[in-house]
Parts: sequence; structure tokens; C-alpha cells
Amino acid sequence: MTNGEHRKLKISCLRYNPQEPGAAPRMQTYELEEADGMTLFIALNEIREKQDASLQFDFVCRAGICGSCAMMINGRPGLACRTQTKDLPASFTLAPLPVFELIADLSVNTGKWMRAMSERLQTWVHMKSAEVDLKRIEERMEPELAEEIYLLDRCIECGCCVAGCGSARMREDFIGAVGINKIARFRLDPRDARTDGDYYEVIGDDSGVFGCMSLLACHDVCPKDLPLQTQLAFIRRKMAALGWK
Ligand code: SF4
Ligand code: F3S
Ligand code: FES
Repeated sequence: MTNGEHRKLKISCLRYNPQEPGAAPRMQTYELEEADGMTLFIALNEIREKQDASLQFDFVCRAGICGSCAMMINGRPGLACRTQTKDLPASFTLAPLPVFELIADLSVNTGKWMRAMSERLQTWVHMKSAEVDLKRIEERMEPELAEEIYLLDRCIECGCCVAGCGSARMREDFIGAVGINKIARFRLDPRDARTDGDYYEVIGDDSGVFGCMSLLACHDVCPKDLPLQTQLAFIRRKMAALGWK
């Protein structure tokens, strides 16, 4: 506020620890005074330090890099460390991301989901030769191509795109925009031995590209502004050209 007064915030957090026998989900509201430049990271830490040490949530980098602080912020997936309270109403809700395994309160196990997706899609470079060729590893890549790969590599695996996706909520095995983005990234990599057919084989069903209903929430909520819409459309076009339907 411009006159030096700060708002009184009411933050309602979903509380539930599935490990606690007999526990049931409930909302708990905390009140605190907003401070200049306050992020949800600061607000939640203040609540934990001064009001309730039992509130569980995750943060590592506080800088939008690790992806661990993603949660539902007033019903929309986002990074708590990059969200300022001034951009929210004085009363708002926080809840854990859906789809992912709940650890407790606002903390979910995105790592388990991401690991399973990554193993399924084999999201690593499959070298063309079994022997490691150091010269090839150091080979220069065209700057434009390196830039294109870098753009897609900026995914921090926060899970926001999955949490915001209707298909992911309906199908447990749906790979989400994060998975489709990984395929788009590896098919660009000249060091990867896989063919387009190999990539599309693993995403050519309803748990992959064909499960996507073009809802595009993924694109809207990605905190790294990845061009998810473009990648989805591109992969679909490429698959159609190869006869996938
Ligand atoms: Fe998060 Fe965007 Fe990566 Fe999805 S694509 S996991 S929203 S950074
Ligand atoms: Fe989901 Fe994004 Fe497709 S929100 S349905 S993956 S366009
Ligand atoms: Fe790392 Fe928010 S704490 S992205």
C-alpha cells in the first residue's frame, strides 16, 4: 500500500497428512501482515516460524530454478517463490498440486512422477556409438540449434503444466506437456541416435500425444514460459506426416 499501511492477509492452506492415522483434509487460515515485496515463500516461512511449525511445504532455491515450490495458488498452479502477495487478493487459498503423490499439506512428490515419466520416455541422449567419442561430444553445434535446445531445456520439472491439465487429472499415465516437451527436445539433439519413429512410438497413444485434448492450460501456467503449445502442435504435425493418427 502506498500510505505505508500493509494489508492483513488471510491465507487458507489445505492441511492433510495422509500418514497420520484418522487425519482428514481441512482448511486452516493464517493471518499475517503483508510486507513490501513479500513472496509466498516469505509468507509461508513467517507462518511456519511464528505461528505453526507443523505446516509442510517445499522450497530449495527460492529463485524459480528448482521447481520444488509449485502449488495451487488460489486455484492455479504456480511457483510460490516467484509469486508476490501483492498480486493476490487479501484472502487466498493454497493447496498442494493435484495429480502428484501428496506428502503432506502443500508438499507433493513431483520427483517420483517425473522420474517415472523420464524412465518411460528415456529422456537422455542415446549416443550414436557405444564407444564414447570425445571429439564428437565436443563437436560444435550450430548456435541457432543450441539456442532452440536450450529453450526447451529450461523446464524445471515443477509439475505446474501437469497439475493444470484436465487429461492428466483423468489419466494417471498421461505424460503431460512436460513429457511431450522432453521428446521435442531430444529429437532436436543431433547426438541422439533415435529416429522420429522411435520417439513417436513411446508417445503415440492416449497416454501420450493422443491423450492431449488441446486444453492449453499447460502453456498458460508454465512459469518458464516454455512454448508448449507450439511443441504440441509441431509433434502432432510430424506424427501425422509419418502416418500416426
Ligand atoms: Fe514446469 Fe513448464 Fe516444465 Fe511443465 S514444462 S514442468 S510447467 S517448467
Ligand atoms: Fe493438457 Fe496441455 Fe494438452 S493442458 S490437454 S497437455 S494442451
Ligand atoms: Fe525453487 Fe521455488 S524454491 S523454484
